Formats: sequence, C-alpha cells, structure tokens
Amino acid sequence: MRIAVIGAGYVGLVSGACFSEFGFDVTCIDKDAAKIERLRRGEIPIYEPGLDDLVASNTANGRLQFGTDIAAAVEGADAVFIAVGTPTRRGDGHADISYVLAAAEEIAGAIRRHTVVVTKSTVPPGTSRKVAAILTGRLDESLFDVVSNPEFLREGSAIQDFMRPDRVVIGAETERARSVMRELYRPLFLIETPILFTTLETAELIKYAANSFLATKIAFINEIADLCERLDADVQEVAKGMGLDGRIGRKFLHTSPGFGGSCFPKDCLALTRTAEEMESPLTIVDAVVASNDRRKRRMAQRVIAACGGSVRGKTIAVLGLTFKPNTDDMRDSASLTILPVLQNAGATVRAYDPAGMDEAKPLLAGVEFCSNSYEALTGADVLVILTEWNEFRALDLKRVKSLLKSPTIIDLRNIYKPDAMANAGFYYFSLGRPSSGPLQKVRVSKAV
Ligand code: NAD
Ligand code: UGA
Repeated sequence: MRIAVIGAGYVGLVSGACFSEFGFDVTCIDKDAAKIERLRRGEIPIYEPGLDDLVASNTANGRLQFGTDIAAAVEGADAVFIAVGTPTRRGDGHADISYVLAAAEEIAGAIRRHTVVVTKSTVPPGTSRKVAAILTGRLDESLFDVVSNPEFLREGSAIQDFMRPDRVVIGAETERARSVMRELYRPLFLIETPILFTTLETAELIKYAANSFLATKIAFINEIADLCERLDADVQEVAKGMGLDGRIGRKFLHTSPGFGGSCFPKDCLALTRTAEEMESPLTIVDAVVASNDRRKRRMAQRVIAACGGSVRGKTIAVLGLTFKPNTDDMRDSASLTILPVLQNAGATVRAYDPAGMDEAKPLLAGVEFCSNSYEALTGADVLVILTEWNEFRALDLKRVKSLLKSPTIIDLRNIYKPDAMANAGFYYFSLGRPSSGPLQKVRVSKAV
C-alpha cells in the first residue's frame, strides 16, 4: 500500500512517519521547499519527542520519502491524506479551508487510478463533501472515494497518541473506502483500538465536538480556580474530588493561564461560527471562547497585582513561552497575550524556553531571550512560570532566591507546592490555591 501525505507539519509529518512505521510506503509532500530540503537532510523542522528517530529509521529503510511534487506522489498512491493547515480565517473566525481545497484541486489533477482521498485536517462539517465535489468535477467517480479521518494527537506526545489512540474515527460512505481504511489502520485494529465508522459530516463534527468539550473542561476549572482564590479553597483538590467521579474523569482539569495552541482556540471559534451559520447556536462554546480570552488578559493583571500593583521599572523573569511543554509551537500561547501587557506596563521581560525560542523571537519584540533559566533570573525582581516544562519543576531554589531581587514566584502552572515554597522563604502565588506572604490577597478587578 502506498500513501501520499499532503502537508508535512505537526500532523502530516507525524502521521506519515507513523504510517511508514506500520510498514507502508509513504511520501510526505509540502509546498515549503526549504522544509522538505531539511527533512531530506535528516533535520526535523519541529520539536516533537521521538520524531527524529522514527523519521531517521524509516527514511533509512526506504519506506519514508519527502518531496514537493504532489502529482508524482499522488499518481502512485492508494490513499492520499490531506494534512494542511486550517487556521482561523481573518475577520470572521471561520476555519480557512482554502489550503484543503487547493490541495484537493492539485490531487484531482494527478489521480490516474482508484485513490482514496482522506481529509485529516480538522475541517468544518461539509468540507470533505466539497473535496468530493472538486474531484467529481475533474474525474470519473469510479476513480476515487473521499474519507474524513480526523486526527486526535496532541503535540508533545504525538507519536504515542498516533500509535495508541483512544479511538480512530473514519467517515467513509462506500465499502471500498472502508476496506482501504481498515487495511491502513490494521496495526491499531490488532491492538483492539476502537474504530468508529461514520458518515463524512459526523466524523468531521466528532473532531470539533471533542476539542470543544476538552476546552470546556479547562475553561470550567479555570473559573473554579478563580472562585477557589476568593473562598480560600484549593482548586487541585476540587479537581481531584470532581475527577474521581468516573463520569467526569480527572484529565483536562488542570488550571492554567488559559488554553492555547494551534487547535483549541481556533476549533472552538470555528465550531461556534458553523453553529451560527446553521442557526443552531452553541452558547456554551461561545462562553468558553470568551472566558479563555478573558483569562489570558487577566493573567497579566495578576502578575502586575502580585508585583504590588505596578511593574514599571521592574524586570520579570519568564520561564516557558510555548503553549504547553514538549513542543516548540507558539500558536495562541498565553505568553503572546501576557508578555506584551507587562512590557506596555513598563516591565522588562527576560525569558527562557527549552525549545520555543526560535519560534518565539519573531513574535515577542523587546523581550530579552536568555540561554537558560538562571540567566533569565539574574537581576530579575520576580519569576513568572508560564509553561510547565519538566526542567522548571526541579529548579535549584536556593540559587533562584539568591538571583531574584525579591523572593517572589508567580507560578501560573501550579508546579510547586505552596507550603514548600513558603518554607523555602518565597512569596509564592499560584492559581486557585492559598498564596503566601504579601501575595495572599492578590485580587484582580472584575472588570479586566
Ligand atoms: P502545520 O501548519 O504545522 O502544517 C501544515 C503544512 O501544510 C505546512 O507545512 C504547509 O506548508 C503545508 N501546506 C499547505 N498547503 C499545502 C499544499 N497545497 N501542498 C503541500 N503542502 C501544503 O499544521 P498542523 O499543525 O500539522 O495542522 C494540520 C491540520 O491538522 C489542521 O487542520 C489542524 O487543525 C489539524 N490538527 C492539528 C493537530 C496538532 O497537534 N497540531 C492535531 C490534530 C489535528
Ligand atoms: C489538543 C487535543 O488534546 C488533541 O486531542 C487534538 O488532536 C489537538 O488539540 C488538535 O486538534 O490539534 P494540543 O493542542 O496539542 O492537543 O495540546 P493539549 O495537551 O490538549 O493542550 C492544549 C492547551 O490546553 C494547552 O495550552 C494546555 O496548557 C491547556 N491545558 C490542557 C490546560 O490548561 N489544562 C489541562 O488540564 C489540559
């Protein structure tokens, strides 16, 4: 079985490498020639743990190739996966499906024998049918089937998520298409992964509904965290007490400075737009989007309040810039909202991130980028922890204290324990838990 994957980004590259690991011949295509050149040299353009080894071994055994020529890759393929971006469309919040439709046009021009064309990109319900319409306009219908196969991997654990998913969702409406998809996912079927066959629109909607539901859990616990601060309750215990109820579950109840990343923000927004268009409003998801945007803005005010009400002339060390650990992805990261507010309020920001610095530099003008945590802390007034990278969980606290002008830590990921930090002599502020020292009553006005 031969596969072509169009788009060699986080999803295309991981899916392509994993399918080659399953034993298929895979060609990953990208229109970004520089990216393909790097991949051909054995360089991985993104930070994703384990991806370098997987790409290296499958390139070496000849099952994984890279190119820029869609036609050449599609001609010999049994299945073609579209894994291009679907960012928020400027102006109206809908998903921009122009890259998907452009890829479909190119694929249509190259199909010579029966091919299954699979939308793996996250696309609004109805998009795979638009892909089918493009193919129908150019080809005899016996030459293709269109399938929707949304991807549920997370950045940072993408390979594990792809190789051992909770489920595989396949929107396929002919037996021929279902049979090709069954063959492609046979290795997962053998380990008893649930495989759900649906229509095209149902598969497309499952993806948006799943992302929006997870985002809802996060927005919910974030508002509960705010309430905990008012009530002197502990959000982590509340989350644990809720999550032990099997109907709720413990995952995705970790409070944060707001969810970010290339998917939750854009997918929640896109789903609300589809719902509006269909005159079936999703008021809960509307509220999640608003709540999360507000939270990111409020976080900057929290930092300012924790610094005594003003950061003018202060230097703030920031650890973590990416939207989550184990990725270099900066898309919709909370740091992009919080840092400019601190700078505009007169602070100097010194930042360090283990993998995201190259991506962050062009996005965060005026920030001083440092080569490690302790360099960022040198001469800073306070420390703000923005992303929970493992290396920030084990800082040398004595050294941290000696480097800071004021022993103040604002931990927006709750990676330390308040008692331990108070014992170590820090003024410690975290989310939804009791704070210590003068930070005990950090309040942000309701208006922000
Ligand atoms: P990305 O921006 O990392 O990669 C997309 C790639 O497609 C880019 O390299 C771009 O150059 C290439 N491309 C665009 N048009 C092309 C064309 N016509 N021909 C060849 N290459 C083309 O995007 P991503 O993060 O991998 O996301 C891809 C899709 O998967 C999106 O719809 C996203 O919502 C969805 N998704 C992403 C994740 C994730 O963790 N990033 C997880 C699940 C689903
Ligand atoms: C998310 C989903 O988890 C994947 O299933 C999905 O495939 C993907 O979006 C997508 O469609 O692209 P990802 O964005 O990589 O994956 O990362 P998550 O681990 O879900 O985190 C997203 C954001 O939520 C991060 O900013 C993270 O810090 C935040 N988060 C997550 C919380 O604030 N609290 C939590 O408990 C969990």
